[in-house]
Amino acid sequence: MSKWKDRIGGKPLHPESLMMSYGYKPEWSEGAAKSPIFQTSTFVFRTAEEGKAFFELAQGRREPGPGEKRGLIYSRLNNPDLEIAEDRLALWDGAEDCALFNSGMAAIATAMLAFARPGDVAAVSHPLYGGTHHLTDWLLPQFGIRPIPFSCECSEEEIEARIAAAGGPLGFVLIETPANPTNDLIDIACCARIAARHSTPDRKVPLAVDNTFLGPLFQHPLEHGADLVLYSATKYIGGHSDLIAGAVLGPASLVEPVRSFRTLLGTQTDPWTGWLLMRSMETLKVRMERQAHTAGAVADYLASHPRVLRVNYLGHLAEGTPQYDLYRRQCLGPGAMISFEVEGGVEAAYRFLNSLQLFKLAVSLGSTESLAQHPATMTHSEATEEENLAAGVTPGLVRLSIGMEHPDDLILDVGQALEKV
Ligand SMILES: Cc1ncc(COP(=O)(O)O)c(C=O)c1O
Repeated sequence: MSKWKDRIGGKPLHPESLMMSYGYKPEWSEGAAKSPIFQTSTFVFRTAEEGKAFFELAQGRREPGPGEKRGLIYSRLNNPDLEIAEDRLALWDGAEDCALFNSGMAAIATAMLAFARPGDVAAVSHPLYGGTHHLTDWLLPQFGIRPIPFSCECSEEEIEARIAAAGGPLGFVLIETPANPTNDLIDIACCARIAARHSTPDRKVPLAVDNTFLGPLFQHPLEHGADLVLYSATKYIGGHSDLIAGAVLGPASLVEPVRSFRTLLGTQTDPWTGWLLMRSMETLKVRMERQAHTAGAVADYLASHPRVLRVNYLGHLAEGTPQYDLYRRQCLGPGAMISFEVEGGVEAAYRFLNSLQLFKLAVSLGSTESLAQHPATMTHSEATEEENLAAGVTPGLVRLSIGMEHPDDLILDVGQALEKV
């Protein structure tokens, strides 16, 4: 039973109904309808004994007594704006616990460092967002953690064979599904089986799913066996291109060790960002639904255009294909991310991007304004050319993030830019 009012007459309320109230009581703050920004680094203890008790609980040195609450100590450990935003974000994924970070990269890196150890291998899906690719391919090996890449084409047996051939214990499984920028889907349940097979009573091997493209509305990885859900909250959760944040969600037994690492690495976010995330989550559902609806119209237009060779959009997966079956099993909607291959390679892609008038030529995604960029030379330029080509990140590939504009206006813009190609 939740400690917050989340049902009426025993009936559970929907997350969108709880975004304006859950986790906050107006009487805490002079009746303010909205939570204030607790812009403070430190919190005053009523007594020295209380301070001692708060530290004991924060450091896990003892379990809370009956009715005893974890107290506020210092904003690197916890802050009301973070805690309320975390409680609210957890509702969308049905997660027991959530920890917010100062970026999506901080969330991913902190989670990996909390579980993987020198000598381990980490199974990672490809393609991956360029920053995550660089983290797993360049940074983690310097700490003795080697990545084992696999794509959506690899069977469970092939992934197991690669792990066995690598000759180290599996410490972590990280997948990004749908993958940025191709929308390739990775089978969450299959990866959960792999992670479980390598777990022992002494050591849990977590499967972490980067749910940035579809979550938290259109995919719930925990329901398919994932242990942790990761977000760049900079994207749909923040939703306005005005903050950088990340999140890790899952059972408290797995989020707590990540939170301990967050405290030591100092990768928590700040009260103002926590407050902005609360503001954003009030409109999360309407934004994501509207963006997904508009993306369908833009994708249909692109698919019918003679200068477009291929459109990667989840709403266009062909029935009867393994990707379509997987989509039906693990996704609740196609989201609002599209990539497409324009005829004429990089020059044509650049001419298209330089001709856009309403779309903004910028990286990032999930915001109210539509964004367009060139993955091979921008977000995914940290992978080698061979890796990118193998993953479908070709020179003519353009990525679109569909925003809140009128669909007709976006189609008008795409159409006039394609004329210039
Ligand atoms: C799928 C995905 N994961 C993680 C990140 C990293 O997030 P951030 O920029 O918030 O650190 C990004 C950024 O674009 C992304 O697209």
